[in-house]
Amino acid sequence: MFTIGIVTVSDKGFRGERQDESGAVIRGLISRIGAQVTRYEIVPDEREVISAKLIEWADAAGTDLILTNGGTGLSPRDVTPEATLAVVERLAPGFSEAMRLESLKKTPMGMLSRGVSGTRGKTLIINLPGSPRAVRECLEAILPALPHAIKTLRGESAECATADD
Ligand code: MTE
Repeated sequence: MFTIGIVTVSDKGFRGERQDESGAVIRGLISRIGAQVTRYEIVPDEREVISAKLIEWADAAGTDLILTNGGTGLSPRDVTPEATLAVVERLAPGFSEAMRLESLKKTPMGMLSRGVSGTRGKTLIINLPGSPRAVRECLEAILPALPHAIKTLRGESAECATADD
């Protein structure tokens, strides 16, 4: 059983002006790998707020995986990648590469997401883009690798060569 935290990054969502459909999409998809969503919050597009939330959930709460969604684009308020880079200790670029690769098969706009991925302690942190469609397309691309990634990060998976979980 893995624990998952969902951070929806959206000024409008934070102010209650927009329903968080993407958070619901993540919950639905993540249930396929038997993970439990233990933390969920909507935060504004503020670098310090996002970083503080990631640190809290990784360090104090010991969450296995934190999925952010939103704030990865090029608009002036999009700072989720910078907030993430400020707190991760190691980069894990394969997740973001896989998501952009899959996204580009569907829309050239896939290249607009600047999302990053990395680890802090035993927590894997992955940025997803914000729209429900983008969340679905991106998360589906990396979902099969997540259980093994989390086990490896926890130090529980010694053998990668035969891993299919
Ligand atoms: N990726 C997929 N798979 N599907 C999409 O529709 N939208 C793109 C991109 N990635 C999209 C996608 C668009 S239009 C933007 S602006 C960026 O994600 C960043 O989105 P964000 O700022 O909401 O994180």
